Amino acid sequence: MIFKTSSKYNLASNLYDFMERGIEAKLFSKLREKVIPLAAGTVLEIGVGTGKNLQYYNQSVKVSAIDFSKGMLEKADKKLKQLNRQNIELILMDAQNLKFENNQFDSITAAFVFCTVPDPVKGLKETYRVLKPGGKAFFIEHMLTDNYFINSILFMMNIFSKIFLGTSMIRKTENNIKAAGFKVTSSERYHYGIVRVIVAEKSIK
Ligand SMILES: C[S@@+](CC[C@H](N)C(=O)[O-])C[C@H]1O[C@@H](n2cnc3c(N)ncnc32)[C@H](O)[C@@H]1O
Repeated sequence: MIFKTSSKYNLASNLYDFMERGIEAKLFSKLREKVIPLAAGTVLEIGVGTGKNLQYYNQSVKVSAIDFSKGMLEKADKKLKQLNRQNIELILMDAQNLKFENNQFDSITAAFVFCTVPDPVKGLKETYRVLKPGGKAFFIEHMLTDNYFINSILFMMNIFSKIFLGTSMIRKTENNIKAAGFKVTSSERYHYGIVRVIVAEKSIK
């Protein structure tokens, strides 16, 4: 039986924070702490998951955070209630079909999402559409590297991550970001380039 990616994440939502706790403490939380406060104005977070970014938003921003997994959103909602933040709303929505106007948001954030969006370029094009010209998108993503040895490990991991989560370990996400129309203004590499912090803009035409 083939499960949809959203259903896989509904199941995984119960274990997700527990499974990720090691790498989260070692690296990911530091990247979130550095990147998420850079979002300004009206912010769209794609694939909010269990809400690990929520605590890092400035009080001054207005965040719409979407995910297509009800299970993940329920966990995010618990975190949001504990944080008692009124400037963040959680919405069940597919990144490949955003129900927002063109040029609506000042900033976009996404952490470890475009490895999973079933059609990543479609999701990124939608993201680009709703970002204002001159707006910035902040991506924390894992992807294929330039190293043959590391990539061979990623290919093996990919077999399991695809089956259990619908997540790909072997996407060229930086290329996908460019293919969707974004201008990449910076790309910082961590863990041999597997994890990257990418800042991208929608040019003012
Ligand atoms: C690996 S988790 C990352 C969650 C969170 N951003 C974090 O940093 O922990 C990927 C998340 O993206 C969501 N996702 C994947 N494809 C999506 C889509 N097309 N639309 C909305 N959410 C999506 C999944 O449901 C899941 O919650």
